[in-house]
Amino acid sequence: MSNALAPRLIDPFARAITYLRVSVTDRCDFRCVYCMSENMTFLPKKELLTLEELDRMCSTFIGLGVEKLRITGGEPLVRRGIMTFFDAMSRHLDSGALKELTVTTNGSQLDRFATDLYAAGVRRINVSLDTLDAAKFERVTRWGKLDKVLSGIDAARKAGLRVKINTVALKGFNEDELFSLTDWCAREDMDLTFIEVMPMGDLGNEDRVGQYWALDDLRAQLATQFTLTDLTERTGGPARYIRLEETGQKIGLITPLTHNFCESCNRVRMTCTGELYMCLGQEDNASLRDILRASPEDDAPLIAAIEAAILRKPKGHDFDYSRQKADGQVSRHMSHTGG
Ligand code: 5AD
Ligand code: SF4
Repeated sequence: MSNALAPRLIDPFARAITYLRVSVTDRCDFRCVYCMSENMTFLPKKELLTLEELDRMCSTFIGLGVEKLRITGGEPLVRRGIMTFFDAMSRHLDSGALKELTVTTNGSQLDRFATDLYAAGVRRINVSLDTLDAAKFERVTRWGKLDKVLSGIDAARKAGLRVKINTVALKGFNEDELFSLTDWCAREDMDLTFIEVMPMGDLGNEDRVGQYWALDDLRAQLATQFTLTDLTERTGGPARYIRLEETGQKIGLITPLTHNFCESCNRVRMTCTGELYMCLGQEDNASLRDILRASPEDDAPLIAAIEAAILRKPKGHDFDYSRQKADGQVSRHMSHTGG
């Protein structure tokens, strides 16, 4: 069946849903302070979609017009056998139905998997990295080793993958690395995006290493050293881009809290247990796993459930730091929904 003829997923606000982010595990080999507590309890295996179920789920979405698939976690590359799933998804790239297969990773397993990812058709990856200082890296990730991640990034680039660095902006933690991170990415020809920290997981608990750093302030600091041009291009996501005229570099700013980006939202997220979240900032979700399991031969009930869920996609989120208590706080961890 040609994908072009397939029904499209259109939400009540006329947004076409063409981008699915899938968390394939809630586990991670790091314990970033803004994401997880040190002693996390993870889901029992039977709760998770199997690799075959993940394939069926993603293939169904692709049949409904999803053109971009991002694999997240937790740390997706710690899921056992995950390369089988990437390999399976490459058939949708070959058919042209899927335009892009990407992954968001902490980089710890790239030494092992970079070549396989490229072979499966992945061309771009996002690597989360908040600091270039080894001691600070251990402080923010608790369990991570900077060396391992840097060699992973190296392996990825040698394999032909384009790397984008995602940095969570943390006041009092990596403010002083704004220019060193920017220079490093310019030198290595990697894109760089700063992310405002979101009110999730353990942020605000006793062991936070940094706090909310508004990207308007980060932008103002960049402006002291560079000529900035705001770019109008949007990717349907929360990122805005600026160009540093002196280096030609493009810097992304993801500001879910201070700027509304919902009107152009083209994405939905699925957890590793098959819950579909129509909006990152809202609790409403549709549980697809049991529907899929109840109907092993026929995709029709699954398709109907996906279509019904898309019709519940809300107009926008309501994170708001400016109110008294954390309004719009989402209690689930980022590792559950996938970043
Ligand atoms: N706020 C902002 N970003 C977060 N991430 C995880 N937790 C949070 C949070 N509370 C980011 C990671 C990574 C992506 C998967 O999500 O750093 O870049
Ligand atoms: Fe793991 Fe990413 Fe969460 Fe850090 S932010 S603990 S690397 S899932």
